[in-house]
Amino acid sequence: MKGLIIAIDGYSSSGKSTMARRLAATVGYRYIDSGAMYRAVALYALDHGMIAADGSVDTAALTAALPDIHIDFAPAGADGRQHTLLNGADVERDIRSLRVSEHVSPVAAVPEVRHALVAMQQALGAEGGIVMDGRDIGTTVFPDADLKIFVNAPARTRAERRYAEMLAGGAKADFDEVLANVQARDRIDETRAESPLRRAADAVDLDNSGMTLDEQDAWLLGQFHEALRAHGHN
Ligand code: DC
Repeated sequence: MKGLIIAIDGYSSSGKSTMARRLAATVGYRYIDSGAMYRAVALYALDHGMIAADGSVDTAALTAALPDIHIDFAPAGADGRQHTLLNGADVERDIRSLRVSEHVSPVAAVPEVRHALVAMQQALGAEGGIVMDGRDIGTTVFPDADLKIFVNAPARTRAERRYAEMLAGGAKADFDEVLANVQARDRIDETRAESPLRRAADAVDLDNSGMTLDEQDAWLLGQFHEALRAHGHN
């Protein structure tokens, strides 16, 4: 029987990628981080001078370049993480930089970028057996997903997590800047015209602010087994 399609959406730094990756590893599904794909496009746009000093995106140039932007995922490396490849180069570290974080939301708001990436995401999930996280997975990419989760936590909690992650990764960071970035991204993600961040009507909500990783994993695995039963897998 073909595997389920699991959509995990939510605000930035809500911990949804970690949850999604760990569930996929536990149940033997493929994990796709759709945010990494938007980040890779933003990195390309930055490196090709398509983002002005004021942050505005040269939409025409970026749209014309889309056929030249190839995104793949390399199998998990020594760090256990899947690495994002942009035109064959491993950009996993670069796409997590503050430079990319600061410019990705306007790139993700460009309708042509979304159409191209949504089509890729749908192709990646066509066979089922996938856990995908993002902002519009349960609403636009897989509106018929077998299980939809919507993750949220207060902006300050999410900024604290992101800040700790950056310090742990050896990056320099200023907490107020990180918090401002989280809040700015929330605003852009919620208000863009093309598939804004929105909870699917049939999503299960999770506020994970008071939960440990193990508690989150157990909760999500419980949801997964319930979804399996609901879809006739035992
Ligand atoms: O989850 P993340 O922070 O890595 O996402 C990076 C950016 O991409 C963020 O601004 C939201 C956007 N994004 C999106 O618009 N749709 C998705 N499915 C995933 C991410």
